[in-house]
Order: sequence, then structure tokens, then C-alpha cells
Amino acid sequence: MSTHIEAKQGDIAETVLLPGDPMRAKWIAESFFENYECFNDVRGMLGFTGFYKGKRVSVQGTGMGIPSALIYCHELINEYGVKNLIRVGSTGSYQKNINIRDIVIAMAASSTSGINNSRFINADYSPTANFELFMKAALYAREHNIPIKAGNVLSADEFYEDDVESYKKWAEFGVLCVEMETAGLYTIAAKFNVRALSILTVSDSLVTKEKTTAEERESSFSTMIEIALNTL
Ligand code: ADE
Repeated sequence: MSTHIEAKQGDIAETVLLPGDPMRAKWIAESFFENYECFNDVRGMLGFTGFYKGKRVSVQGTGMGIPSALIYCHELINEYGVKNLIRVGSTGSYQKNINIRDIVIAMAASSTSGINNSRFINADYSPTANFELFMKAALYAREHNIPIKAGNVLSADEFYEDDVESYKKWAEFGVLCVEMETAGLYTIAAKFNVRALSILTVSDSLVTKEKTTAEERESSFSTMIEIALNTL
């Protein structure tokens, strides 16, 4: 058992999907895994291991924001030997041509988080996706005619900004969308020499103010999970 995960050694697969919402972790296990078992319920942050197309895979909820996600990533990597971490989450569009239900793969993550700011005093670090995982996901999407967008995303510390127009600066510099974890995930993966990728589904748009319904979220989430599981 680690501080926040009650799994025994060997209970967690080398590849772990990381949704923010623990109930989404349960839904992924129930909908996509065979012979799955729950390995974590500490703080209700559910984790499961099962099989997808015969390959062993796990899913672990991370909570919202970089500080929470880093706790789970740190323990998965350092206490359970996890080698591939694939975030599957929702995101808000910053661009006119990125619509609700679209899938975005994060090649890199800008951030308003203080974490790398204080780590690399007076210098910028560019958290980037693992190239191999990125290529596998992009090729799977292309071979299965699943449209994707790929590029720079913003990992924000605040869901509710004081200035609701502040997204326009990021948009002007080509940032595709906003979420709250990828910059932390890509940084910790680099630090511990493991592989990470973030695949995101657009749940809302800051440009049009549209939001997905619960049913739309479920079907577009399924496509994202299918891509993630086929990078194994
Ligand atoms: N995740 C999904 N939509 C988001 C938004 N608008 N801001 C931050 N994270 C999000």
C-alpha cells in the first residue's frame, strides 16, 4: 500500500488510464475491461485492473488539478512501477474550429500552475507528450477514421477565472483548449523517465459557450477511451 493507493504490489498494470473523475474510472472498467478488480477505494478515488483485448491494463481516478493528479502519478510510478500513463479527460475549447465532442491529443502543455514556475526559477520548461504513445494514438485514429486535433493545450490551476476573456491570449498563440492536469503529468513522466499522453474530449467551448449533454459526453468519451486502450 502507498500513502493514497491501497493496492498490493503487482495489483496495478504497467499501463494506467487516468480519468479525473473516479466514477469515470468505474465506468471505464465496467464498459471496456474483462475480469476486472477494484484495487483502490482510498478517499473514493477508485482504481481497477482488468484486461482489454487480452492485455492487462489499469485505470485510476486522479481528482481535479495538477496537485491531486501528481499524488496519484507519483505513487503509481514510484511505488507500483507504472510505465505508461494515459490521461483521458475533458477539456474546454479555445478555438472556433474545435467543437464540443471533438478529440484533442495534447502534444505539449502550457500552464498557469506555479509548479514548474518554482521548479525552473526564471526559465520555462515545455512539458511534452511521449512521441511513441502520441504516434500510436494518432495512427490508430487515422486508421479508424476518427478525426482528431493535436497541439498545445493549457493546464490551468483555476476552472473559474476572474477574467472570462483571458483565454483569448492563449488562443491567439495557438493553444487549442484548457484542462487542468496535463502539464503536471508530462513533467513527472519526464522526471521519472516513463511515458505519458493526454487524450481529451471537448466538453464545453469558451468560444461558443456550448456544453455537451451527459449522453453526448458518454458517447464521445467512448471514442477517446477506445483510442487510449489501443495505444497499449
Ligand atoms: N475541463 C473541461 N472543461 C474545462 C474548462 N472549461 N476549464 C478547465 N478545465 C476544463
